[in-house]
Amino acid sequence: MIVFRDVHKRFGDREILRGVNLEIPAHETTAIFGVSGGGKSTIIKHIVGLLQPTSGDIFVDGIKVNGADEKTLLQIRKKVGFLFQNGALFDSMNIEDNVAFPIREHQKDLGRKEVEKLVDEKLSMVGLKPAVVKTLFPEELSGGMRKRVGLARTLALEPSIILYDEPTSGLDPVTSDLITQMIRTLQHDLNVTSVLISHDVSETFKAGDKFAMLFDGKIIAFGDEDAFRHSSNPVVQQFINSSSKGPIQFD
Ligand SMILES: Nc1ncnc2c1ncn2[C@@H]1O[C@H](COP(=O)(O)OP(=O)(O)O)[C@@H](O)[C@H]1O
Ligand SMILES: [Mg+2]
Repeated sequence: MIVFRDVHKRFGDREILRGVNLEIPAHETTAIFGVSGGGKSTIIKHIVGLLQPTSGDIFVDGIKVNGADEKTLLQIRKKVGFLFQNGALFDSMNIEDNVAFPIREHQKDLGRKEVEKLVDEKLSMVGLKPAVVKTLFPEELSGGMRKRVGLARTLALEPSIILYDEPTSGLDPVTSDLITQMIRTLQHDLNVTSVLISHDVSETFKAGDKFAMLFDGKIIAFGDEDAFRHSSNPVVQQFINSSSKGPIQFD
């Protein structure tokens, strides 16, 4: 579904991705593990063409993303929902307008009533009551509710692929669990392909079907939870066993 072929990415004189090879399967959640600053966000930004690789190729559904023209990129971005790390809601817009924003941008032919119906549907999907939240502004919501609204907005264009960048960062453990559960439910109900990145090992194991470990700019392991837990790779072992101590640094 999503393929990285020998992707290198350099920022200035620092090479962050050093030959990433990865095949993300359809209709499952693939989680990418890795230390903070390791290049996880950099990887998923390549999927929607927000970043161009220094070399290598990225394919989504057989379409080459890097070097794609505007029209192709728009096509890809319609297909791929991206939940940014901070939710990225517009503070000056109420919740209804936040969720309606991508719909109005991409489906200009829809009438007011149709847009409203879609907004209500997406808010309900993430467990929010449309009548209660629509007229509120982001600052009036808790962190967990803001994440849900961000998720509703991500669902607005009915993507077949959803990218989650640290969806539980900054949330308390109970809310984190709720969001993780929601990611699983959405994956199942909508049969989407999900990619999740996180440095939180225990949340990630709860959310993912397949796991990939990014280390030193490369994917050094890929497999299911069992394969990861029983991996003989010392880097993988150190990472998954450090979950209670927070993100770790490798020298
Ligand atoms: N647009 C950019 N310009 C320069 N450096 C960047 C840019 N984006 C990310 N980086 C650097 O690349 C490294 C990896 O960042 P990132 O992909 O955000 O890591 P992660 O998501 O794993 O925490 C960091 O050192 C970061 O500072
Ligand atoms: Mg990041």
